[in-house]
Amino acid sequence: MDRPVLIEASVACANLLRLEDDLKLLASSGVDLLHIDIMDGHFVDNFCVDFSLMRAIGRVSDLPMECHLMVEEPERFIDRTIEAGAQYVSIHAEASRHLQHDLQHIRERGAKAGVALNPATPIDCLDYVLDELDMVVVMTVNPGFVGQKLIPATIQKIQDVRRRLDNTGHENVDIQVDGNVSFANIPAMVAAGANMLVGGTSSVFHKDYTIPQAVNAVKTILQKIETAQ
Ligand code: DX5
Ligand code: ZN
Repeated sequence: MDRPVLIEASVACANLLRLEDDLKLLASSGVDLLHIDIMDGHFVDNFCVDFSLMRAIGRVSDLPMECHLMVEEPERFIDRTIEAGAQYVSIHAEASRHLQHDLQHIRERGAKAGVALNPATPIDCLDYVLDELDMVVVMTVNPGFVGQKLIPATIQKIQDVRRRLDNTGHENVDIQVDGNVSFANIPAMVAAGANMLVGGTSSVFHKDYTIPQAVNAVKTILQKIETAQ
């Protein structure tokens, strides 16, 4: 099944002191989604975007917000994340006590539901919630911090998830990769089956590129992949 590859911008990697400028450049450059990292300092030893910043982003940007909840007991935050403007909500399988219930609740509130898997987490945990999924987030780094290096074993994991989804009649479920989605890593990630790319410090917000240049570079890579297929 040919699914469009979406380019996302990880707001955690933007220039937060000039965020409105960055958001306008992201939109004009043709980014598809904003990736919003929400952290509770417990599931990961860090903090990031909060609900008030999400609402401020929603006031100045029309780009859909896709939220990655790196929090313990995500059921505590699902409603507020959606009320703050999220159109997608991904929760960590490792953090949810009642994963099927939480995913169902995300959809009942009108958002798309995703499960995020840390690099070490086996994909079998997806088996009984495949019907509740719109996307699977394959963490290609350990969550919580920007600027990390891809964990090589996660490329095979993308393939394994794609195969599991396709072999169970869930071809329509997307696969997002999150972490070190670099110009160099994108071809292998897409070839393995990823179709939602979270661009951060190694692509969309690469220090040696302007946002338009970086997004254009990602688009050029994707066009080359498509032509070669
Ligand atoms: C990491 C976050 C990622 C991060 C990506 O915990 O989930 O979204 O912002 O940053 P890079 O692209 O620098 O790995
Ligand atoms: Zn993320």
